[in-house]
Amino acid sequence: MPKYQSVQTDRQLAEKLPYGIALVDANAELLWWNRTAERMFGFYAEDNQASSLLVLLEETEFHRLFQSKDEHLQIEINSPHRSNKRLRLQLRSYDDNAWLVISEDVTDVHKLRAIKQDFVANVSHELRTPLTVFCGYLELLLEKPDEDSAVLVEMLKQMSGQGRRMQNLINDLLWLSRLETKSVCDVDVTVVDVNTLIYYIHNDALALCKSSGKLLQFTLEVDACLQLKGNLDELRSAFANIVSNAVRYTATNGQVRIRWFEDAVGLKFQVTDTGLGIPEKYIPRITQRFYRTDEARSCEQGGTGLGLAIVKHVLLRNQARLEIESTPGVGSVFTCVFPLQAAVRSSGVKACREVINKSSNFSADALLLPSENVHDK
Ligand SMILES: Nc1ncnc2c1ncn2[C@@H]1O[C@H](COP(=O)(O)OP(=O)(O)OP(=O)(O)O)[C@@H](O)[C@H]1O
Ligand SMILES: [Mg+2]
Repeated sequence: MPKYQSVQTDRQLAEKLPYGIALVDANAELLWWNRTAERMFGFYAEDNQASSLLVLLEETEFHRLFQSKDEHLQIEINSPHRSNKRLRLQLRSYDDNAWLVISEDVTDVHKLRAIKQDFVANVSHELRTPLTVFCGYLELLLEKPDEDSAVLVEMLKQMSGQGRRMQNLINDLLWLSRLETKSVCDVDVTVVDVNTLIYYIHNDALALCKSSGKLLQFTLEVDACLQLKGNLDELRSAFANIVSNAVRYTATNGQVRIRWFEDAVGLKFQVTDTGLGIPEKYIPRITQRFYRTDEARSCEQGGTGLGLAIVKHVLLRNQARLEIESTPGVGSVFTCVFPLQAAVRSSGVKACREVINKSSNFSADALLLPSENVHDK
């Protein structure tokens, strides 16, 4: 192919480009290609069988691109070689009888686009239900402004609940976005007294029990002398999300155990419940945004599926990980495992031996009063 010998001199240059380059004739028969194109399309020099790209990309938009010979047109196709790869193709005239087909791997961009679309769809979906209810009641109120006061109160209660739901969603989204965009170096890292943190989270859990009319037995086992380096707000949101899940997904008269301890592997914040449990196939997915199991949906707990995504981000920022064990109908164990280097221990051997091991049967009306174990060091 003397006519294309100059290609040989261009070869080194073409090999350095991060693009797949294929030279084709007027019938899209392959004349030459670089190694990146080999990987993208799955054709190999050893085959030595020039075949037409029109055949190879038979059912794709490549036909339209090639017929148009439009150098401004860009199309996207799935790689015929690896279907999980997305390629963007464009055409450049090489000479009167040959064209360059330039391909770029846009898999990441494609994935990001899909994530963005999913995200917008999810947020819209989550906002639509409360907004519909909210607007429905508003219209009723406008139609019947002199409605009986008991009915009015009920409507306002519903509206307030839906308003709160939207507010929670927006707050969680803003918090997630902050976790994703703000560098760990830009947040305050202090020594967090996990013991006190658990005290407050436990009180919130009791308030949640009260509002949902649930009776749960809480057990707290806290190493009162073990503290954790990290950002207080972030750790609070992660731990509170796990505890609130335990409360929400455990039926009345169930048990919730909160532990904070250290073992040879790391520092562990662990919440065990005797709730719904999670089928194994869902476990890898429940930390994804907006993911809820069918069981949780049918339970009508009103969550949006952002809690564990927040937990995952916070733990990532702390070089920690989340372990989940669960048996449907029996219960779940969520464990945040922090590296041992994140520990700060209170000095004084006596204090370090003080470990809370307190099991109490709190009714929905009872609040945990700060015991000496909780507060005193
Ligand atoms: N302790 C648990 N027991 C059973 N299922 C759980 C538990 N924790 C989480 N799940 C499941 O994982 C899903 C995701 O939890 P996540 O906390 O992310 O969202 P959510 O609780 O639905 O909503 P929210 O954004 O209000 O937290 C839940 O919907 C539920 O299906
Ligand atoms: Mg949750």
